[in-house]
Amino acid sequence: MKYKLPRQLTTPQLNNLISTQLKKQNITLPTASKKTLQTLADILPRILQNGLPHSLILRKLPHSLGHGIFLHPQAKPIPRGTLIAPYAGTLSLEAQNDPEDSDYAFAPLADIRLAHPDHTLFDPKRRFHPRRLYILNLDAQHNGNFTRFINHSDTPNVTIRYERIPQNPYGLAPAPLEVLYFAKKTIHPGHQLLVSYEDPEDQTYWGVMGIKPYPLKPTTFKLSPSLRIVS
Ligand SMILES: C[S@@+](CC[C@H](N)C(=O)[O-])C[C@H]1O[C@@H](n2cnc3c(N)ncnc32)[C@H](O)[C@@H]1O
Repeated sequence: MKYKLPRQLTTPQLNNLISTQLKKQNITLPTASKKTLQTLADILPRILQNGLPHSLILRKLPHSLGHGIFLHPQAKPIPRGTLIAPYAGTLSLEAQNDPEDSDYAFAPLADIRLAHPDHTLFDPKRRFHPRRLYILNLDAQHNGNFTRFINHSDTPNVTIRYERIPQNPYGLAPAPLEVLYFAKKTIHPGHQLLVSYEDPEDQTYWGVMGIKPYPLKPTTFKLSPSLRIVS
């Protein structure tokens, strides 16, 4: 597994801007619980070393779906509410009206206006315009971890939560916003991990691409005891 980035790539300047934006937009993110922090401290070194936790398997799927992630048939079920991993990638600011063409990106924050000094810092090549809007872009196209292989479903068993990583005794760098994948319901051995890329009312992924996604459920494809895909 080539993708071994434990957490999002960011900078202190970008973290400051995210904190300021969250305040400006009156967004209070939940603080990661002690259990989440402990799980993070446990799984991040494993992602860095192996890419995939032992209990998860990466497999190529039919129908041009690319790869997908499965729970090993001999693993214990993953209980609802369990942290799977952070969605790791490169954080950046992008102009909101620029078409986004990465299949691995999403925007945890939008409608960001940059003051002149921030514009000089984050978008020096473009002329300053006070009304230009930006998104916070998290892209796992080139740098990420196994979560970038989790496919889309309208009936997912994984959910995305934005949380704040506070000061902690586990050696985790604090972050004003971290994108975390949790089990939405029990994930059963052999089933595929699936998440919803968009809400029905916010058609920002498939709607933009003009594609109807393949109707995947966690059991549409399963991993056999010999780790083969069965449909
Ligand atoms: C974040 S990637 C998921 C991993 C991808 N399968 C891979 O091998 O790299 C998102 C891309 O996977 C494919 N994909 C994921 N879920 C899909 C679905 N339900 N129907 C069709 N394509 C899907 C699409 O090409 C989509 O742009």
